[in-house]
Amino acid sequence: MEKRNEFKRYEEIGNWDFSNIKYTVEQENSWDFYNEIAKYSNSNSLILDLGTGGGEKALSQMPDAGMIIATDFSPKMIETANINKKNYPNKHIKFVTMDNLNMKFPNDLFDIISARHTIIDAKQIYNCLAPSGVLIIEGVDKYDCWELKELFKRGQAYKDEISISQKDYDDIKNAGFSDINIQEIIQYEYYQTEDDLLALLLKTPILDDFSELDISNNTHKTIIEDDLFNQYVNKHKTSKGIELKRVLYAIIAKK
Ligand SMILES: C[S@@+](CC[C@H](N)C(=O)[O-])C[C@H]1O[C@@H](n2cnc3c(N)ncnc32)[C@H](O)[C@@H]1O
Repeated sequence: MEKRNEFKRYEEIGNWDFSNIKYTVEQENSWDFYNEIAKYSNSNSLILDLGTGGGEKALSQMPDAGMIIATDFSPKMIETANINKKNYPNKHIKFVTMDNLNMKFPNDLFDIISARHTIIDAKQIYNCLAPSGVLIIEGVDKYDCWELKELFKRGQAYKDEISISQKDYDDIKNAGFSDINIQEIIQYEYYQTEDDLLALLLKTPILDDFSELDISNNTHKTIIEDDLFNQYVNKHKTSKGIELKRVLYAIIAKK
């Protein structure tokens, strides 16, 4: 995925709010990203949340801590986060524009660094973590929504030879982390209507790696072919809604 186009796409989207999409989630195990952060933090902790989007989840789900610094490379996302922050006047959180691949923090600073569904540079994270600091990641893996990707013959990481989880694991190991724990998380999402599922696919990089820009007007348009979409919907309609199998991974590692 070309980083410049991905940046432009996130700037266009400007938030990571899915509250208008109606769906339910069933998960095979009890993993919860924010519960894990809560386990490792206390009221004095200094936490860094990478690729925070419009801060929607950091504001509503991060545990109370001494201070949370939440970053994103998209200034538009950070603008949204600062607007959202007004609804959480007591939260100790500061939003900063920063590229995860070019982190500008001093060494040995943070007690916890979290990254949910965003790109990371394990070595830079290692450097910024305090001694004994903890890295907590939740990522979207290659086989996420695999049936959809197979049907459309494309999608996030569709052609990758090494899965995203394996690459992150290797990078984290090579960066010097110890005590690395990795697990797969399987979720079944049920979308109430076709429009709800379509809204997800139009907003996220599941079927669209955000790499194509329309050079005539310098914007991006996600195209979801009707016939393939209908094929998927017809096969996956259930009494709970239209089923989408999500394959995520979680990594917790100590410096
Ligand atoms: C899928 S969203 C996840 C947002 C949030 N972490 C969540 O879980 O709701 C990915 C976010 O990562 C940001 N992002 C992508 N590449 C980045 C980079 N190189 N540096 C910083 N942020 C990045 C995007 O702008 C976007 O807001």
